[in-house]
Amino acid sequence: MLVLGIESSCDETAAAVVADGERILANVVASQILTHERFGGVVPELASREHLRRIGPVVDEACARAGVTFAQVDALAVTEGPGLVGSLLVGVVYGKALAEALAKPLVGVNHLEGHIHAVLLENKLARAANPEIEAAEFPNVTLVVSGGHTVLYRVEANYPAPGAGPRFRYTRLGQTRDDAAGEAFDKVAKLLALGYPGGPVIDRLAAHGSADAVDFGRVRMKGNPLDFSFSGLKTAVLYRVRGSKLEHEAEERRRWQNDLRREGKRPSADELREHCSRETLDLIASFQSAVVNDLVERTLAAAEAEAVSSVFVSGGVACNSLLRRHSLEAARAQGLGCFFPSLTLATDNAAMIAAAGFFKLAAGERADLTLTAHASFPLGLSAEPDSVTAHNQNC
Ligand code: KG4
Ligand code: ZN
Repeated sequence: MLVLGIESSCDETAAAVVADGERILANVVASQILTHERFGGVVPELASREHLRRIGPVVDEACARAGVTFAQVDALAVTEGPGLVGSLLVGVVYGKALAEALAKPLVGVNHLEGHIHAVLLENKLARAANPEIEAAEFPNVTLVVSGGHTVLYRVEANYPAPGAGPRFRYTRLGQTRDDAAGEAFDKVAKLLALGYPGGPVIDRLAAHGSADAVDFGRVRMKGNPLDFSFSGLKTAVLYRVRGSKLEHEAEERRRWQNDLRREGKRPSADELREHCSRETLDLIASFQSAVVNDLVERTLAAAEAEAVSSVFVSGGVACNSLLRRHSLEAARAQGLGCFFPSLTLATDNAAMIAAAGFFKLAAGERADLTLTAHASFPLGLSAEPDSVTAHNQNC
């Protein structure tokens, strides 16, 4: 079954063609970084307009790269939430119109379910080399960690009948009560004038600082110990910077980058590092280490509490090199398997939406023209009474 996936929940317009939920024939992502970087974050209205401009060409390009015509596509899968509602609507309306015009089945996919399936898709690509992966996949604890989300799930696969495809069950074990981890990376990078998005640049600069320089302490959560909170950490960074020479240094960096932008240039990672003092690099490394330690600790605590034998880590922050290294080492020490998507599948993309959609379509799920966009769209049931009343809608 050839599924055309469409994703437009935040600032990437993406389309992909995936065969049988496991072979990626094309995966096209049009990033809007250049549109949003001077604002240091995603501007929803600009994001919607960019999606409108790009959605048609991106879908066409995915089909062309896959070498398939619209007529050869068997079904469509589109992200219906959570995300920016104006952005989501572009993908949803385009997907509905295309499915209707082609008389093909359509299914709506939860963006978070897509991130979980990015790991399964990656594993399917790797299984030929390592057949043990399949045995370690379920049940698992998955951390979805991105610019809009930081959530821990228990994920199970059930087979309703012999020979039938799997049905997935997601139980929410914990989530952030304020900022998502990626949002904290982005806000700290904005404060320190390091550019946008903040995660990749902090990842690279942190390698040049000392992670032990600043002790941010541990975040203790009242109630559910598997919930997260990153706003205090972000504020702690702000207090260290405000009124200090680091603030002055950040101001100079901001002016320097604005001048470069006027000339149509962007600083390289090395140039940026040359414009950072040792103290700034130490602060960056200590901040990254505090976030990563917290993510790894709660994920492994969840895995122990749920008695699973593996953990998945997905979402944009799963690109972080320290998080990858630290999770693998800590999981191994606890006797657990640990799986990540490749960097391309960790950040927002439509291959993960097509892969998640494939299983829904195979189970007979269909969306009709009432399919719409949901800014807030929790995945699965909560294991705890919800400690978060307003769902994080950053992205
Ligand atoms: O999954 P994603 O593409 O979009 C959302 O669903 O939010 O994630 C984007 C987020 C941004 O906050 C970005 O700063 C973060 O992922 N990110 C990283 C890294 N690469 C991307 N954070 C830390 N380290 C990285 N290497
Ligand atoms: Zn995402």
